[in-house]
Amino acid sequence: MSDQQKTLPARYYTDPAVFQQELENLFCQMWVCVGRTEQASKHGDFFLCEIAGESIIVTRDGDALRGFYNVCRHRGTRVCREQEGKFAGPIRCPYHGWSYGLDGRLVGAPHMDEGFQREEYPLHSVQIDEWDGFIFLNLAHHSQSLAVQLADLPKKFAPWGLRDLRRYKRIAYDVKANWKLIVLNYNECLHCPLLHPALNRLTDYLSGNNDPPQPTYIGGSMELRDGAETMSLDGRRRREYLPDLNEAQRRQVFYYAIYPNLFLSLHPDYVMAHTLWPEGVDKTRVVCEWYFHSNEMAKPDFNADDAVEFWDTTNREDWGISELAQQGISSRAYVPGPYSPRERLPAAFDQWILKHERGADG
Ligand code: FES
Ligand code: FE
Repeated sequence: MSDQQKTLPARYYTDPAVFQQELENLFCQMWVCVGRTEQASKHGDFFLCEIAGESIIVTRDGDALRGFYNVCRHRGTRVCREQEGKFAGPIRCPYHGWSYGLDGRLVGAPHMDEGFQREEYPLHSVQIDEWDGFIFLNLAHHSQSLAVQLADLPKKFAPWGLRDLRRYKRIAYDVKANWKLIVLNYNECLHCPLLHPALNRLTDYLSGNNDPPQPTYIGGSMELRDGAETMSLDGRRRREYLPDLNEAQRRQVFYYAIYPNLFLSLHPDYVMAHTLWPEGVDKTRVVCEWYFHSNEMAKPDFNADDAVEFWDTTNREDWGISELAQQGISSRAYVPGPYSPRERLPAAFDQWILKHERGADG
């Protein structure tokens, strides 16, 4: 990759047709992270999510996780309206009462005549899989497995024990910026001294190492400064280290963008995840969640607001600058500008976007 690579033309951030193509080629073709296992851990638990304008029901049927299009097989109505909850019995369409088992089979269809074959009308299912407590969906009919998409990440992140972490806090942000600007911003810290004075006191923005860009993710590490133990308001760590981290991992923070919509930020004592939910060419909902070890959360004096407040402030700084980027790029004066050698990850993400313009298989 040339050091002279330039940012993408404005249409990638402003043209609704490019945006639609990205939804189709990336969000409808790849495994997309939609939540955590604990959101659907017991039989009948469900939540809705929206990918590329499609409403999907995620539910637990016995041991199996299931994903269905939220579309009745009678006349197409959305069968589920609540964002989350528990199905006490079959999933019943509010229009004419067709009802479906948690495995998607049509189990009730009032007023149909005798020759009607219920088995021909199950809910349309969606591929679903899990990795260490994260739930992923894939809307494509034929796709590589989640394991292939995640490549070496499960092994790389094993020491953080993601499966044993539980959600402490969730904050959703509506950001008036294209989803790719949020990815670009997450993957460089050259902006940290100016934009994030609190963060910059805890980690040196020039420290750490990036992995070589991978086909399905980019990321790297930063070193905690002397005196800082984690990313929190004062740099103090109020929780035990995650149990399987080695000495080096206890002194670092790891930031990975897993395409297309998950950021994982791995700290010595907790993990933060962002999921991106593109809503328009210049509009993205970002959901940020903070996870802690279940043993720590069980302690009577457990409190992690220091980590949440630190990142909530930092998040808002990032969303604010991403909105300014969106506005500037939308100007008739904008032309692509040069990346520095220290912006290799954003440059690699742009390359990935160009490579996949015609579909997730390139
Ligand atoms: Fe669902 Fe008629 S549209 S029962
Ligand atoms: Fe930032």
